Amino acid sequence: RVLILDFGSQFVQLIARRLREIGVYCEIHPCTVDDAFVRAFDARAVILSGSPASVTEADSPRAPQAVFELGVPVLGICYGEHTMCQQLGGNVEPDNHREFGRATIEVTVPSPLFDGILSPGEGAVVWMSHGDRVTRLPEGFSLIGKSTGAPMAAIADETRHFYGLQFHPEVVHSTIGKALLENFCFKIARLKGDWTMEAYKEQAIAKIRAQVGSGHVICGLSGGVDSAVAALLIHEAIGEQLTCVFVDTGVLRFNEAKEIVELFRGHFNIPLVHVDASEMFLEKLAGVSDPEQKRKAIGGLFIDVFEAEARKLGEVDFLAQGTLYPDVIESVSFKGPSVTIKSHHNVGGLPARMRMKLVEPLRELFKDEVRALGRELGLPEIFVGRHPFPGPGLAVRILGEVTKDRVQILQQADRIFLEEIRQAGLYDEIWQAFAVLLPVKTVGVMGDGRTYEWVSALRAVTSVDGMTADVYPFESAFLSKVATRIVNEVRGINRVTYDYTSKPPGTIEWE
Ligand code: XMP
Repeated sequence: RVLILDFGSQFVQLIARRLREIGVYCEIHPCTVDDAFVRAFDARAVILSGSPASVTEADSPRAPQAVFELGVPVLGICYGEHTMCQQLGGNVEPDNHREFGRATIEVTVPSPLFDGILSPGEGAVVWMSHGDRVTRLPEGFSLIGKSTGAPMAAIADETRHFYGLQFHPEVVHSTIGKALLENFCFKIARLKGDWTMEAYKEQAIAKIRAQVGSGHVICGLSGGVDSAVAALLIHEAIGEQLTCVFVDTGVLRFNEAKEIVELFRGHFNIPLVHVDASEMFLEKLAGVSDPEQKRKAIGGLFIDVFEAEARKLGEVDFLAQGTLYPDVIESVSFKGPSVTIKSHHNVGGLPARMRMKLVEPLRELFKDEVRALGRELGLPEIFVGRHPFPGPGLAVRILGEVTKDRVQILQQADRIFLEEIRQAGLYDEIWQAFAVLLPVKTVGVMGDGRTYEWVSALRAVTSVDGMTADVYPFESAFLSKVATRIVNEVRGINRVTYDYTSKPPGTIEWE
């Protein structure tokens, strides 16, 4: 296994992810661990991450010296390279030519690190982000690659198998990055690359058991893939010590509540408390048309209902959440264990109010890894690949006031749109697709009669992370078919439009 020491880099989880992708097991630990920890860890290789700090500042962090005495390969990335150089007797200085973003690295002498990737004289695009540079190499080291802004872009002590890179091989913009990490792991550290998601699952289960002991865990299901995967994993780990609670807010997609209940109770035989709170939510939403007030009303009531259910269960020690790595704003930093979670998280207010400890078994994973883990746990494909759905649900897709009628009308339009998308085989190409209800009346004609009904807007986007999004370019025949079906089949809608706004400037949801 590989030990990754975290110096506070925003990319540290990406290093771990790249290693998992190539089948190598690794663990991330703060750079403040001591020599005894490093020796006991029994790593086959060590990677030192980057950092926002500078080794030229007093009291910036250092690697435990034992790292360099283990006799295993060490790869220092950016700050990791700098601290390795300094700790082994080299020198690092602040650089006037700070280098950020794209750069070209050129290999100067052959090295197992570049084996099969670049020969001397050949170059490749990499991603730099640094303000310091190595000015004197430690004894035993030599230069193996250079770039315009960083003369010591890649260095090596081939005898001790110590390598330093000024650039970040873990980011996708570094085109040769993955291949470099493969060479480091397979050719230099002689790791096998036989680690799998199944092994990750076993590890995660062991971790949950160790954390929870004989305690009780409550897990809120939202219908999304993250909470479902978290619940399945925890159930495999501790069985009956887990209770799942599903709060039906009444603003879910068509049939969604039924599907979730069937999946958990029927398919997996996991005890599930199903609270149909739809009437309460609709009452709370009556007369509310401001988007932020809708969100607050739903968020607040959700917490009340969830808390009331938890109280009925008696003693509950842990709250499980499907928090993913991108939800975690800061990586575990050398400055301390404080970690912040984005506040828009659906049940964000719960842990503090309920004074429960958190179980977050997906904290280290990215969305596609959660999907892979879901498959490993037997989650049906239809759930694994589900489009994201916002906590406030259809309430933020019905402009203005939310009423039972409006919810039902929107559910039908949305169902038809998604049915057609699935049938055309486009579901997996799209990040999110849904219908929006605009309670604005327009005039139409059906048969010989005049209609005066509402408008539905269709939205479909592609995205990698939901932060930016592009409009999905449907064929016009497809959109015509969907529009015709919606107007013919859904009473209350007589006009359909397609939203052509990317994000930015639009957001994905309409409210
Ligand atoms: P926007 O509309 O901000 O949405 O472009 C970006 C992504 O976030 C989802 N979203 C939410 N998810 N709770 C959630 O769990 C929320 O309150 C919320 N609001 C938006 C949205 O569906 C999209 O995937």
